[in-house]
Amino acid sequence: MPVPVTIDHAAVLPEDDVLVAVGVRADHLAEDAPGASAELAGLAGFEGKEAQTLVAATDAGTRLLVGLGEDPAETAWRKVGAAVSKAAVKQPWVVVDVLGALDGPARNAAAEALAEGLALGAYGFSDYKEPPEGTALESITVVAKGGKKVAQAVERGFTTAIAVGLVRDLVNTPGGDLTPTAFAQQAEELATEHGLEIEVLDRAAIVAEGLGGLAGVARGSTQEPRLVKLTHRPEGRPKARVALVGKGITFDAGGLSIKTAAGMEHMKTDMAGAATVLGAMTLVPAVAPKLEVTAYLPLTDNMLGGDATRVGDVLRIRNGTTVEVLNTDAEGRLVLADALSLAAESEPDAIVDLATLTGACMVALGDRTAGLMTNHEQLGERVLDAADAGGEAMWPLPLPDHLRKGLDSTIADLRNIGSNGYGGALTAGLFLREFVDGRPWVHLDIAGPSSASAAYDEVAKGGTGYGVRTLARLLAGWTRLDA
Ligand code: BES
Ligand code: MN
Ligand code: ZN
Repeated sequence: MPVPVTIDHAAVLPEDDVLVAVGVRADHLAEDAPGASAELAGLAGFEGKEAQTLVAATDAGTRLLVGLGEDPAETAWRKVGAAVSKAAVKQPWVVVDVLGALDGPARNAAAEALAEGLALGAYGFSDYKEPPEGTALESITVVAKGGKKVAQAVERGFTTAIAVGLVRDLVNTPGGDLTPTAFAQQAEELATEHGLEIEVLDRAAIVAEGLGGLAGVARGSTQEPRLVKLTHRPEGRPKARVALVGKGITFDAGGLSIKTAAGMEHMKTDMAGAATVLGAMTLVPAVAPKLEVTAYLPLTDNMLGGDATRVGDVLRIRNGTTVEVLNTDAEGRLVLADALSLAAESEPDAIVDLATLTGACMVALGDRTAGLMTNHEQLGERVLDAADAGGEAMWPLPLPDHLRKGLDSTIADLRNIGSNGYGGALTAGLFLREFVDGRPWVHLDIAGPSSASAAYDEVAKGGTGYGVRTLARLLAGWTRLDA
């Protein structure tokens, strides 16, 4: 079970004897901390700092004080939520009364972020532990004025968190268990549950459809590859048509250009792009019912079996481009080339891809920030705004023309690595651009933020589900792009 809690909304505090979390602003310490606790809090070093918590006996009963910092912004509410559910791990039920000072749209946005934080702070992955570990928390009630609007915001935040939890589970599952076939199976179950159309290509169909990049990477594995296509089709004419593409390498050994032991350690997470797109697709019918959204997930592992793609082999991508494979560890761009070509063929208004594509992007931006590359400034801005609203760190990177020459091959149309070692994230982005047929496109390199080496804020150690909140907000707020 990904997110082990349920969250609901109430207009007033319940009468039951239950742990109540109250918000305390750093700049209103005396007024916000109920009863005698201001003094008590002072003794315990509680200053109302953002996401600081303290359980205190007050005149009104036991209270979980949670710091809101000074003038909390939307991202603060997510941290506050996570801090509450982490502090309440021994309670089956916590009531959260922290939004009192807010009104209107600010209250709705805060309630949504708070619910996301509350649910994600309770997340744990225990599939391989016996007995399973995890929080005792089962039920969370957010108390706030604001009626139906705020109730809907809480519900939206909770639903988003469930999708994020699903992605985390997929990313955390070992590559030997989450094979391409197992991943496709999960996609089928979710498609049924959420009313999405699904089409799954097996190895023979992948070859027959000319997906030479995906077939070429899969040659080194006894595991069957899959190409999963999911569609949300609205009733009536769609407001717009958007394609999502996610890199789905279920384990990246590097192929014959084998990785080092340390470099391979976390490579079960190399399908995070596909998992994020799948998670976002489960939200589409609810958040963007009027859009036609299609997901393309190329799934394979990158192994070094006896008939693996050799260094120097030339693969033919779906759109006819030939690629000389000079490093089999640059496999993500090969499978994405096919998926982007397929996406572009259906002439969507926009394409967004997510991929754990390069270590170079982590060198550039660190391990919490995704790199954004695009051929369409306005679409790029939209995605950056959506990321901002969702509290996911993202930064634009350029696609410099002079690096494109480095992808010219002596014997084929392209080579799959640049000719010098600089700007690896950008070279990868330039490679992908060759397959979108000039359509508005954003590439998100999520190699860093898709997993975390330690827990922080609402993020657990391991898979983070990064990108779901950005995609959900991007699609929910969709309007027509300028030509
Ligand atoms: N999956 C890796 C990128 C990666 C590295 C993701 C570290 C997360 C953490 C990708 O397939 C890869 O191996 N990229 C190479 C590209 C190089 C061969 C041009 C890299 O980054 O070293
Ligand atoms: Mn690789
Ligand atoms: Zn990879």
